[in-house]
Amino acid sequence: MPTPHISAHKEDIASTVLMPGDPLRAKFIAETFLKDVRLVNQVRNMFAYTGTYKGKKVTVMGSGMGMPSIGIYSYELYKFYDVKNIIRIGSCGAYDPNLKLFDVILVSKAYSESSFAKTMGVSNRHTLPASKTLNNKIKRAASKLEKHLNEGVIHSSDVFYRLNHEAYKDIFRKHQTIAVEMESFALFSNAKALNKKAACLLTVSDSLVNQEETTSEQREKAFTNMMEIALESI
Ligand code: HPA
Repeated sequence: MPTPHISAHKEDIASTVLMPGDPLRAKFIAETFLKDVRLVNQVRNMFAYTGTYKGKKVTVMGSGMGMPSIGIYSYELYKFYDVKNIIRIGSCGAYDPNLKLFDVILVSKAYSESSFAKTMGVSNRHTLPASKTLNNKIKRAASKLEKHLNEGVIHSSDVFYRLNHEAYKDIFRKHQTIAVEMESFALFSNAKALNKKAACLLTVSDSLVNQEETTSEQREKAFTNMMEIALESI
């Protein structure tokens, strides 16, 4: 039952999907953590792999960068593949000076200037929550693995490169957003529109406060804490 952007058969996609932004990170997770793995989508190289983790069927699929991209893939997964839960596992830039590189954040709510929710007709609000049910499962998984989670509101931005670097300070102050990424608000909009569940775990890959950064290779491989928490939560 292919869609315009996913060629997998319906039964090839699990009811829970983990979504990193980068399709190569999906490949890394599948090859590192899953058993009986099959590549089930490669349209536009947006790889999706389905396998098992501790006996549970799970799909790991790239979302691409930005709200339009995750908006398309998450909508098709929820609507046409009967996916019930999507857990985004991504990277973010820290707004909060207390966050360090590689800290893991559990998103409670996503704030965005984006018109995504309004345009799709789901909400006029600019802040949308993650699923409480999924977040509770993720918190239980993290405490079982004795891994620390920073819970907070994040900023889903449409813009990565800003002319005014200092503009983040106003958003941090006004909306108490501890970090910035570019996808959660669209994912949470789709979950709300289609009565599904969505959550988001983020690893700090850079800081707007002190301009620290990680390499793309570190980003691909070093986010294992977040991956293990997400997998354990299913
Ligand atoms: N801005 C937006 N998205 C991001 C960032 C950032 O600094 N880092 C990782 N994802």
